Amino acid sequence: MIKVENLVKKYGETTALDGISFEIKEGKFFGLLGPNGAGKTTTISILSTILRPDSGTVRIAGFDLQKDPDQCKRNIGVVTQEIALYNKLSAFDNLMFWGGIYDVPKAELKTRISEILSLFGLTERQHDKIEAYSGGMKRRINIASAMLHRPKVLFMDEPTVGVDPQSRNLIFEVLEKLHKEGITIVYTTHYMEEAERFCDQIGIIDKGKIIAEGTLAELKKSGGIKESIAVTFNEISEEVAKKIGTFLDGEFKFTGNTLHYYSNQIKSDLGKLIVLCNDQGADISNIEIQKVNLETIFLSLTGKQLRD
Ligand SMILES: Nc1ncnc2c1ncn2[C@@H]1O[C@H](COP(=O)(O)OP(=O)(O)OP(=O)(O)O)[C@@H](O)[C@H]1O
Ligand SMILES: [Mg+2]
Repeated sequence: MIKVENLVKKYGETTALDGISFEIKEGKFFGLLGPNGAGKTTTISILSTILRPDSGTVRIAGFDLQKDPDQCKRNIGVVTQEIALYNKLSAFDNLMFWGGIYDVPKAELKTRISEILSLFGLTERQHDKIEAYSGGMKRRINIASAMLHRPKVLFMDEPTVGVDPQSRNLIFEVLEKLHKEGITIVYTTHYMEEAERFCDQIGIIDKGKIIAEGTLAELKKSGGIKESIAVTFNEISEEVAKKIGTFLDGEFKFTGNTLHYYSNQIKSDLGKLIVLCNDQGADISNIEIQKVNLETIFLSLTGKQLRD
């Protein structure tokens, strides 16, 4: 449904995209995960025809973005990072406006608006001005406006940032519904929990490059990162630490009073490790299990945290 090849975009001296390529099959929920400044918005802006790349090609629904921008536009809906709504107009009038922009057939527009308002739980507030809406409600209308023309592809740029939990849950419910209906969703976020929960394909982007891509399971495997147990002791002598070390057959390291033990079978090793520490009279103060997740994958790929 979407094929991106070698996108490059520079803003003056800054290289925002440094040769981005990926492919998204129809109906997939694709997550573009990356820290601030990684190039997520630049990618979405190019894919949704808001911005032109310096070089590279994009195909959407079989059309070349450069040659057939209008055909591409017909197939896509965009939820930009900054909410684009008229504050002085009501939610209903905003939706009428966007319906016009997206060429929704006039005869159908009112029915679609009423369906979509009910989907987002805002039927009763539809005639209130947007300026009287909370951030989460504005975001719901903003997403609704991108769906009125029933696009095959929906681009969403960090739609849950600064949104209250109730609105966020509602947004996720709608996204899951769209996903079930077979809409292709491209979703940027710097929340790894969102990417892990919803996306069936994830691209990790950093400094304008896709540094890893695949399903969550594939990413976990390809990173070659092991789960670990961190056992912290109230106090431990070098002698006891050495003893514990000689009994461990897996990979481990001591840093200060903490033993980090790496393994692919954390669950079965945990009990043994605790018994071993007790046998050596080591006084455990804390045990932490570090599972492999997108955060640890990102850390191992870049040496830094996903969040600043
Ligand atoms: N209009 C612009 N002029 C100059 N530099 C820009 C402009 N827009 C983005 N950049 C730079 O391009 C790089 C990528 O920015 P982009 O907005 O695509 O990142 P992002 O992943 O969306 O970040 P965030 O999570 O903060 O939204 C950054 O270094 C940014 O400072
Ligand atoms: Mg952005």
